[in-house]
Amino acid sequence: MIKVKVPATSANLGPGFDVLGLAIDRYNIFTFVESAESKEENLIYKSYRRVFEYLGKPLIPVKIQVNDNIPIARGLGSSAACIVGGIMGANEILGKPLDKEDILKLATEIEGHPDNVAPAIYGGLVVSVMEGDKIHIAKLPIKNKLNFIALVPNFELSTSKAREVLPKRIDFKDGIYNVSRVSILLTALATGDSGLIKLGLQDKFHQPYRGKLIEGFDEIISAVNQKGALGCYLSGAGPTIMCIGPGEDNRLIKDIQEYVKDEYPAWEVFVHKVDNIGALSYID
Ligand code: HSE
Repeated sequence: MIKVKVPATSANLGPGFDVLGLAIDRYNIFTFVESAESKEENLIYKSYRRVFEYLGKPLIPVKIQVNDNIPIARGLGSSAACIVGGIMGANEILGKPLDKEDILKLATEIEGHPDNVAPAIYGGLVVSVMEGDKIHIAKLPIKNKLNFIALVPNFELSTSKAREVLPKRIDFKDGIYNVSRVSILLTALATGDSGLIKLGLQDKFHQPYRGKLIEGFDEIISAVNQKGALGCYLSGAGPTIMCIGPGEDNRLIKDIQEYVKDEYPAWEVFVHKVDNIGALSYID
């Protein structure tokens, strides 16, 4: 049988709307078994089928099983994982005719934007730039040792709903605000200057609008920052709040876990590092 392991991803990182995304060490594992009676109809199968159409090959029907660790509609890239899983499953069954660039092109076409699928495929922190049909990506090595502490609410927020609340136009000075923050964030991560991360996570494009959909959004961020986090941002389209902490600081993790248990007992806390490898497919 064919297996594909795909990391969860956290997009935007504050100001990098639809451009930045990061893979973290939490995974879905997709298993593909050839089966003539398969009647699957879901995002994984749709993505699987797209590879056969793209290559002009007859479909090989499969049954798909998912070992599902990425929560759905929480801003941690569960759809991106399904898309990349389906494409890479088909690619493995066909003897790997597609390279990563082809996989990224197909995955972006299905997802609509590259910021989750690119780190799911390549691992690490990925900057994606769309130029017409072409997607350029650059992987930025992160110098700081960091923990990514995800505060995951007990409710879903669909990306389409979270995109509906965004403004149609952006003020020129808000554009400058975000460009300056993205620049300082990438500098902080490339040089290891963790003191600049909080400034670099500030955003005027989406968080002020989406934050209103999440009860307690501002209070949680300010409480976690007071406990010593290096900064927080809305993960992808939300509702997960991602907190960044120094890699060696277990005290901060405990404090955040206690705070969430007391104030938001239905929420979950996941503690992660960056995944630098990205999705893998293999025969088991
Ligand atoms: N960049 C996307 C958004 C990520 O924020 O809407 C979620 O798919």
